[in-house]
Amino acid sequence: MDKVYLNGEFLTADQAKVSVFDRGFLLGDGVYEVIPVYAGKCFQLDGHLLRLQTSLNGVRMKNPHSNSEWQALIKQLIELNGGGDQSLYLQVTRGVAPRDHIFPEGVTPTAFAMSNPLQPVPEKYKTKGAAAITLADIRWQNCNIKAITLLPNSLLKQQAHEAGALEALLIRDGYLTEGAASNAYVVIQGTIYTAPKDEKVLPGITRDVVIDIAKANNLPIIEQAVTEQQLKQADEIWISSSTKEVVAITQLDGEAVAGGVPGPVWQKMDALYQQYKLKGVA
Ligand SMILES: Cc1ncc(COP(=O)(O)O)c(C=O)c1O
Repeated sequence: MDKVYLNGEFLTADQAKVSVFDRGFLLGDGVYEVIPVYAGKCFQLDGHLLRLQTSLNGVRMKNPHSNSEWQALIKQLIELNGGGDQSLYLQVTRGVAPRDHIFPEGVTPTAFAMSNPLQPVPEKYKTKGAAAITLADIRWQNCNIKAITLLPNSLLKQQAHEAGALEALLIRDGYLTEGAASNAYVVIQGTIYTAPKDEKVLPGITRDVVIDIAKANNLPIIEQAVTEQQLKQADEIWISSSTKEVVAITQLDGEAVAGGVPGPVWQKMDALYQQYKLKGVA
């Protein structure tokens, strides 16, 4: 997957160069998207492009491309990289300017896209689920913006990794917000709970799909945050993201979650999610 897109050109990765004065490099002043590609086709592209625009609006940055321009360049990049299953990454930064906190005027944003092979979700997550630990949500107050400034997320994810866990589940003011790189769900007596869309969570595209699937299949779902105590007593815990799909968390802080195996509601959701992926409908 050697080809990348940078500011209007398709280049090999080693040809693509960005100035050291790019505000993405100096200030983390940018936003991004990660889009799964199945058999050469983007999954939920409209949702991702809409969220990109929302993130850009959130940081008062101009979108360098119309949706049809993004669609065309994405199609070309996927083809140049051989089609199949890919993980597509888009990034927009405010552009190149002398370093200053104040926004520069009249600067063209830097537009970048690359793709990597999409790793299939490991079989062990399907059969056994994965481990998570709880950590304090140390991120900022605008987690709804998909900003490239990922230092807190990275520190949290590293801490989980060093504890042998896949994900950190984040607690803010006593409530579960989401994972360091995923949305989170808790099943209590057959009802699925996930935190509402506000500035404390990223509005996950996979989360939208999970909610649509649940509603279309009469699986009770409520967009309401659960307390840390409810999380610890949950019948099932899941996380979701574009590249990991929906994964059951079967160990939390070293304790088995309801028997330590993926639960029945996750089994239903995963089966429906796989169908949705194939057909593109709930
Ligand atoms: C903090 C955070 N929440 C949620 C998600 C899931 O979002 P999506 O389903 O759009 O991949 C991600 C994805 O990377 C994330 O970083």
